[in-house]
Amino acid sequence: MNILLINGSPKGRASNSLRLAEAFLEGYTSAVPEAKIEQIDLKGKRVEPCRGCFGCWCKTPGRCIIDDDMPELLEKRIRADLVVWSFPLYFFNVPGPLKNFIDRQLPMALPFMAENTDGTGSGSHPMRYDMEGQHHVLISTCGFYSAEKNYDSVCSMFDHFCGKGKYETIFCGQGELFHVKELSQRTDEYLSLCRRAGQEFAADRISAETKAELARLLLPKQVFETMADASWGVDRETGEKESGALSFTRQMAALYNKASYDGQDRVLEMHYTDLGETYQILLEREGSRVLPRPEKPFTTRIETPFTLWQQIAAGEIRGDAALMEQKYRVKGDFSLMIHWDRFFGSAEAKEEPVRAEKPGKKPPQLLFLLLSWMALWIGLSIASPAGVAAALAFILLLPVLTIRFERTVYDTLSSAITALLCGLALFTGKTGLALCLSYPAFGLLWLLSCCTREPLCAAYVKYGYGGDRALSNPIFMRTNYILAAGWGILYLLIGAAMPLLQRAGRMGLGQILIYGLTALMGLFTAWFQNWYPAHVARGTDR
Ligand SMILES: Cc1cc2nc3c(=O)[nH]c(=O)nc-3n(C[C@H](O)[C@H](O)[C@H](O)COP(=O)(O)O)c2cc1C
Repeated sequence: MNILLINGSPKGRASNSLRLAEAFLEGYTSAVPEAKIEQIDLKGKRVEPCRGCFGCWCKTPGRCIIDDDMPELLEKRIRADLVVWSFPLYFFNVPGPLKNFIDRQLPMALPFMAENTDGTGSGSHPMRYDMEGQHHVLISTCGFYSAEKNYDSVCSMFDHFCGKGKYETIFCGQGELFHVKELSQRTDEYLSLCRRAGQEFAADRISAETKAELARLLLPKQVFETMADASWGVDRETGEKESGALSFTRQMAALYNKASYDGQDRVLEMHYTDLGETYQILLEREGSRVLPRPEKPFTTRIETPFTLWQQIAAGEIRGDAALMEQKYRVKGDFSLMIHWDRFFGSAEAKEEPVRAEKPGKKPPQLLFLLLSWMALWIGLSIASPAGVAAALAFILLLPVLTIRFERTVYDTLSSAITALLCGLALFTGKTGLALCLSYPAFGLLWLLSCCTREPLCAAYVKYGYGGDRALSNPIFMRTNYILAAGWGILYLLIGAAMPLLQRAGRMGLGQILIYGLTALMGLFTAWFQNWYPAHVARGTDR
């Protein structure tokens, strides 16, 4: 199996289309490892335009009189079992060098007139060689948002010389996105589809499902067009070159996902410290707008060297890690940073709720863990066997009642510890002892979780911050370690105070202390989890 890959892009190996063609052939050769690929980059070849002398038909039949690289290339073209044509769309057709190559295929045909049988024109020429078994695949990117209707004249030309319906196509709009590192997640997805198409083609044909996915836009029309317009770095009104940072800010603004709008208009101010330039992005219900001069009070201001922000956008540096290392600063409302992926993530995707690990289950809930402890404390405070038995029944039933929710190791440990303490109280009648043990046990659960890679609160809260991805966010992790340690220490202290209060007969005061301190710690947690990341981001955590 000889495959000829003809790269007709004037950009040579830097071609966007070529990336798709290479992915397609990767898929193909994974299914047909013995296939041999030969690549022609027309950019480096001498292929002069046809002179129209018909010498190849009469003077030297089958051979062109021009002395350039074409005779050698034509031989490969004739011998190939599969020809993959990779090219950009230029003025709704193939680029000039490829058109020259196509014109110079004339020696492959005999001069005689023949009937055209597939209705593509008024005549044809018989082929000089038997090329009936040859297959063709056209792979091309174009610059508009969609490939639809842009390839009519390309197809019309290939219909004539390959035969109508006798070739496969992959045409992709938004081609220039294939070299934008910031969007590699989406373009890599497309390249995997090309790989799949290659595999399927090797087996038989590209499936309708793969074709439908290949036809999906890389980015929504409006997002792409705004980004594309911004990428030229030229002012729309004056046509003059504008600042690179401004054009970068415009492209970032284009990625704003308006589905993330939560009822609050935001002003994101970008201050590039190394350039001394400041721009504002208005994030509104209708979309985003860039103000080249700050006009409004900011909601969130990011102070960053331009080069650093470019690296973050390109995925070369993690934004959260850089923030933790205080390589840039954030002022004002920090919630935008916490939900950055929702605001500026793949513009097509709405924020998908992060699924629990087990299919069909909802994310675990900290409330359910707390319920088993509260049941224990209420049961033990009632201090009657019936109360403790009711608490035990509730604790044992809880996993069944919450069957639709994922359970964490902390849920399991809590069920086990609280059930054991109920058992202790029931069988020994020592409810006071069980109560005294319960507080340090609860405290130790929190504190020991700080020795793991997922402190107790993080195991629940992470689902609101991108799931397991949050575990590699240093700010998220530090916040949760501090909070878990705080809760642990609080309950160890309560555990130490309880026997003393019991002995002094001041259990009433003890209860007030417990509920009061727990409520205070709850309020502190709610405040701290927003304040601490913002505090780090302001650059004051030195
Ligand atoms: C001279 C020229 C003409 C172009 N004509 C079109 C066109 O007619 N339609 C279109 O959608 N894109 C057009 N484009 C954009 C290219 O098709 C697009 O940038 C493509 O992704 C480049 O692919 P390549 O990297 O494989 O060369 C044109 C680009 C150039 C330079």
